[in-house]
Amino acid sequence: MSKPDSEKTVGDVHEALSRPLFNPVLKVTVGEGKLDYEIYLRTADLLRLQTPRSELVDADELMFQVVHQAQELWLKLLAHEVAEVVDDLDGDRLWEVTARLDRAVRITHCLSHELRVLETLTPDTYQVIRRHLGNGSGQESPGYNAVRVAASYAAEALDRLLARHEVALADVYAGPRPELKRVCELLVDLDEGYQTWLFTHYLLVRRTIGVGRDVAALDGVPTQVLVGRMTQPLFRALWAVRSQLTAEWRREGGLAPGADRREARVPA
Ligand code: HEM
Repeated sequence: MSKPDSEKTVGDVHEALSRPLFNPVLKVTVGEGKLDYEIYLRTADLLRLQTPRSELVDADELMFQVVHQAQELWLKLLAHEVAEVVDDLDGDRLWEVTARLDRAVRITHCLSHELRVLETLTPDTYQVIRRHLGNGSGQESPGYNAVRVAASYAAEALDRLLARHEVALADVYAGPRPELKRVCELLVDLDEGYQTWLFTHYLLVRRTIGVGRDVAALDGVPTQVLVGRMTQPLFRALWAVRSQLTAEWRREGGLAPGADRREARVPA
């Protein structure tokens, strides 16, 4: 016999959630891993990958695990998409390159937004969870390493693309090759999205354990190292070309602020 509503506890809610659930729309039981949705997505395996409630060291630990696992999934997908970009770059399929880079950029936005859920973890609670993480380091993240490797292949494929088209990178920004410029700018968007994720992570670390030369990460490294690492781009040449264009810039030909602009039209 079920308890009256007034006597139900949080334990009863979790107990109910731990069992298969009846879906009144489909009139089937969900959670036994037997439905097509569950079989295709392997939800039974997926949902087993988090520590059961009875073994959590804090109720917030589930959130901590889910965000980390979800980040690994997004990073896996990001690396996959960037690897496909390499193939499309080498095949001169520029529409496909831009479509895939658009997707990759959106994935980096997801990564940053999702990380902000972890900002709700207060420092005192993290100090509890932290005791159970061994000497783990973020550098051990498979997804992070995969993205960096895939991006290094993409950087080489961009060099090959430009070589086939006989254009230097600086000339992409000077010459009439809008399709190549679009590819380069999307790679910059991707890099910016990736660095924004690292910067978001830096702020997360700062508010959770602090950043400083005397604040040690679990592996003993001072958290200060994050400051230098988070600005390391994926596509170095694409950032260098900006500095190059600025170095080559000359003031001559410009108009003084307030001068008559009628003779200075944008070329048709
Ligand atoms: C409260 C949550 C978190 C804290 C306190 C934290 C803390 C840290 C610290 C102290 C470092 C630098 C030392 C080291 O390499 O271990 C680091 C690096 C790193 N973390 Fe986290 N982290 C958190 C969440 C995450 C999440 C959700 C991810 C997603 C995969 C992540 C990915 C990384 C990566 C990739 C690095 C290496 C970055 C680099 O060396 O530039 N971290 N983290």
